[in-house]
Amino acid sequence: MEFKEKLNLYTNFANNTVCSYLPLEEGYHRTILEAMNYSVINGGKRLRPMMMMAAFELIRKKRNAEIPPIVSDGTEVDFAHGKLLSDDDVKVIGPFMAAMEMIHSSSLVHDDLPCMDNDTLRRGKLSTWAKFGEDMGTLAGDALMLYSFETAAKSTARSDAVLKAIRVLAEKSGVSGMVGGQTVDVELTGKKPSRKQLEFIYRNKTGALIEASFMIGAILAGAAADEVETLKEAALNIGMAFQIRDDILDVTSTNEELGKNVGSDAEEGKVTWLTYFGLEQSEEDVKEYTEKAVEDVRKLGGHEFLEELLRYLVDRKN
Ligand code: IPE
Ligand code: IPE
Ligand code: MG
Ligand code: MG
Ligand code: MG
Repeated sequence: MEFKEKLNLYTNFANNTVCSYLPLEEGYHRTILEAMNYSVINGGKRLRPMMMMAAFELIRKKRNAEIPPIVSDGTEVDFAHGKLLSDDDVKVIGPFMAAMEMIHSSSLVHDDLPCMDNDTLRRGKLSTWAKFGEDMGTLAGDALMLYSFETAAKSTARSDAVLKAIRVLAEKSGVSGMVGGQTVDVELTGKKPSRKQLEFIYRNKTGALIEASFMIGAILAGAAADEVETLKEAALNIGMAFQIRDDILDVTSTNEELGKNVGSDAEEGKVTWLTYFGLEQSEEDVKEYTEKAVEDVRKLGGHEFLEELLRYLVDRKN
């Protein structure tokens, strides 16, 4: 099966899983529910839930578990019906896939606010605050973040695994992860961060949620501590590659292709990887971080789709 076909299957599966956990839009507080769903539905690449699935399968495969791989040679899986995980597996990992995408979406909702990056375009549509107002934008981000934990707790995994995974989700989303990275990003806007500070920002604002996705997928599949560590390393390298590519696209893409406001970094006075190293070196660095991540994945036995996905992201267009 071609990579693009697999990517479609994964994306659709991840998307359907995520959307199946979204709240119903009803009641006096309906506006916030609409804003939450608006922020999550459509346009997102769903990379983090996909990465969570891949980590889950990687560990399962390593254990030689009876459950067939999600994507291998395409013979053991019911591809025709887009069914990549067993119904039981979906009950285990589905709530966490949705939770991860909710946290990620919430980070984008807040990131676009006028007091942050002040952007009006996201995933090819008006950003949440531009559509619903700043008040609802702020509340929708808060609501999504907390709904994420409400959703994760629905997992039918063993309770010790659920607890461990929820702790990772909280840690990597909060001050020790994404929020911590965003803090330094915002504080140093218009200033000149050192290379070390810039790395801190990328590892946290972007790397941490990717890290959590890998770690949670592995934990739910019963990974040992050293396996989780190796996947964490891979994720940090992917995070660096992913954010540097994001910086490149902010300079080289168009609003239409990217689905967000290009030139936003310069407009906000942000120092990015490109400011330091220029376009060519940044492109090289994306490749190098990606290859490091692929090496880590191979240490655990490899995963065809994941490796293809990582290399595909080097040249991603949105
Ligand atoms: C954008 O993430 C924000 C960054 C961390 C660079 P994505 O590029 O994964 O955004 P969506 O979910 O596909 O819209
Ligand atoms: C992304 O940084 C970090 C988070 C949203 C957590 P950016 O500010 O560069 O992301 P985009 O470019 O707006 O998606
Ligand atoms: Mg930002
Ligand atoms: Mg931004
Ligand atoms: Mg950006």
